[in-house]
Amino acid sequence: MASHFLISSPNPKNLLLSRTNNHSQRIIYQASLPTARSLVPLYWPWEKVKIGPLSVSPMGFGTWAWGNQLLWGYQENMDDGLKETFDLAVANGINLFDTADSYGTGRLNGQSERLLGKFIKGSEKNEDDIIIATKFAAYPWRLTPSQFVNACKSSLDRLQIKKIGIGQFHWSTAKYAPLQESALWDGLVAMHDKGLVRAVGVSNYGPKQLLKIHDYLKSRGVPLCSAQVQFSLLSNGKEQMELKDLCNSLGICLISYSPLGLGMLTGKYSASNLPPGPRSFIFRQILPGLNPLLQSLNDIAQKRRKTVSQIAINWCICKGTVPIPGVKTVRQAKENLGALGWRLSSDEILELEYAAKESPKKMVQNIFQTR
Ligand SMILES: NC(=O)c1ccc[n+]([C@@H]2O[C@H](COP(=O)([O-])OP(=O)(O)OC[C@H]3O[C@@H](n4cnc5c(N)ncnc54)[C@H](OP(=O)(O)O)[C@@H]3O)[C@@H](O)[C@H]2O)c1
Repeated sequence: MASHFLISSPNPKNLLLSRTNNHSQRIIYQASLPTARSLVPLYWPWEKVKIGPLSVSPMGFGTWAWGNQLLWGYQENMDDGLKETFDLAVANGINLFDTADSYGTGRLNGQSERLLGKFIKGSEKNEDDIIIATKFAAYPWRLTPSQFVNACKSSLDRLQIKKIGIGQFHWSTAKYAPLQESALWDGLVAMHDKGLVRAVGVSNYGPKQLLKIHDYLKSRGVPLCSAQVQFSLLSNGKEQMELKDLCNSLGICLISYSPLGLGMLTGKYSASNLPPGPRSFIFRQILPGLNPLLQSLNDIAQKRRKTVSQIAINWCICKGTVPIPGVKTVRQAKENLGALGWRLSSDEILELEYAAKESPKKMVQNIFQTR
């Protein structure tokens, strides 16, 4: 029990270990992980974040990897571990899970939603207590509002729930198919009016396009509640900050995707230790220049007896966003839960941002990201 507090405020026993053992950091970190069932909350009820009518945990978990073989090396024999990961998250107060109808490769298309559906069914929680934020792809064959509503119904079937928490438009087609874009906006209105989604959000929208859809939905009586965008210490440029300011002024919650820079901000990869698969192409470009940032993350982690991932996620929380780190294992979920219940100081935030500026290459932006 009390494992939550071990993360926020180190246990004196662990501190003793740190003074007496050369591998102290590792040992503290392992001793500080919460057990599957924890009785002490990682965050207090007043730290819940409002997304329109919903109250969500200050961090959600992303499930892009759940079903994706190509990029994330998913195998069906990982499902028991993913269920354990889900149960651990829910037991520790995480109530937001991000997915998409396009997640899952090849014959596994939709697998992330299907797994979430199975896990919710098998969970002790009521389905209303778990907020699924799914995204509907703007596939070229989805041209009418009713096709978008049907997409939403298919997601509901896979998820085996009556209502989706946040129905999000996965990407804007404004750059290449503006007519499709407006039809799909009407699709979002229709799914909201039919009561299929509790809130409506967008993803990969820049400030200009966000304002347009916000105003349109408002004119149709539908509040735009969230904007999901790549946001991390590796994706914190002018565009992201402009979007954040706009979200603040419109009362929209910014959901940070890839808060760990696809894994680069965990500290476990280096130019000589790359992940398998296509991620290595991106990592090869960025990692050689990432030392100042990784060093700063590591210094702060050591001082605070946290891990590099926990610092990177906490930075997103301190910027007023809801991060949704992707998790593939119980171990990663346990570690990332330790990003909750405390805050970086303003000096630490400045230090990290300064170090991020010193690191020359940033994350590649999503090809669908609009202005
Ligand atoms: N709207 C969009 O277009 C969009 C785009 C991308 C993502 N998203 C959403 O955002 C979520 C998160 O983004 P992401 O998955 O792209 O990247 P991320 O959160 O930056 O990185 C996740 C990856 O980092 C590694 N990791 C996570 N925690 C770790 C830990 N504590 N220690 C060591 N390694 C750890 C895992 O991969 P390895 O173990 O393989 O390294 C994990 O899959 C996605 O799952 C998805 O729901 C949305």
